[in-house]
Amino acid sequence: MSLTLREAVEQLPKVELHCHVEGTMRPATVVELAARNGIALPTTDVTELYRYGSLDEFLSIFWLVQSTLGSRDDWARLAYESVVDGAAHGRVYAETFFTPARHLAAGQRLGDIVAGLADGLAAAEAETGARALLIADQDRAYGPAAGRNLVEQLGELRRAGAPGIERVIGVGLDSTELGVDPASFAEAYALAGRAGFRLTGHQGENSPPSAIATVVDVLGAERIDHGLSLVDDPELVRRFAAERIPLTVCPNSNIRIANAFATLAEHPYARMRAAGLLATLNTDDPALTDLDLGYEYGSVAAAFGYSFDDMVAVALDGVEASWLDDDGKAGLRGTITAAAADLGPRIMADDRT
Ligand code: HPA
Ligand code: ZN
Repeated sequence: MSLTLREAVEQLPKVELHCHVEGTMRPATVVELAARNGIALPTTDVTELYRYGSLDEFLSIFWLVQSTLGSRDDWARLAYESVVDGAAHGRVYAETFFTPARHLAAGQRLGDIVAGLADGLAAAEAETGARALLIADQDRAYGPAAGRNLVEQLGELRRAGAPGIERVIGVGLDSTELGVDPASFAEAYALAGRAGFRLTGHQGENSPPSAIATVVDVLGAERIDHGLSLVDDPELVRRFAAERIPLTVCPNSNIRIANAFATLAEHPYARMRAAGLLATLNTDDPALTDLDLGYEYGSVAAAFGYSFDDMVAVALDGVEASWLDDDGKAGLRGTITAAAADLGPRIMADDRT
């Protein structure tokens, strides 16, 4: 049976490196957990709940969703559903953010959060075969001391061999960029690097390219999450391309959350790829923005006239940008190329551009 390009990229095995586990919470789960944990929602009509006009407006909803997570079991359920929902759209491997600042401030234990997430990921992996690891994000809004404390606690959990901590492979930074100098998180990053965590950070979603350079040069990040404003600095673009510093780009999120563009056609993703940047494709907060990774690939292909082979190259760049070891990368590349060899010839002739 012949496939449209949209159907082929939906089925193509894909990697996701920029997805917030809290942003995958099904609307029905938000309502259920809020009721169980006594969190007042402004409305239980979730199509009304998920409305925002800027990154900071979005973040206030994201924080509300986060606040519904009250127990280890809640985290497990969230993680389980996130992998099951991703796998339904061809996501076979993810490095997923969780941002526990407000839960820790409210007295939850990091060990319970990590153990719950790991329980849910393992259960979903057994069911779907899709795999997921974790990146612990510092929340800029809580400041550098909270970030350092998070990294210290991660180190303690590692030393204690705490349940699930082996899933946490990296440390990142997210939340509001306005008025926050990323360099203020240098101590936490240095500590995380010394402890062997891989390093990434959100930047350039609504901050200038100089802030992106700071995250790489001062914080030592190996990847940049979003990196949207990079294209405003051609010299920095050339450097990122030459050094293959990955960007985890989320074009539809930039429209729906950051309100940075009205349409995909205006998004710099195509310019990023053309400049040779290792620009991967990701959803960011799929449930909160009514997205999925298959749609992300399909809509980007349609907006920029990409072929199936172009989209396979994007998927393979996701493998390169991941933090898997060489064997893990080789295995995933094999999975993607084998599926692509099967799917490609089945795409309808006039959709095979
Ligand atoms: N930017 C910053 N912080 C976030 C985002 C985002 O897009 N999504 C969830 N937390
Ligand atoms: Zn993000």
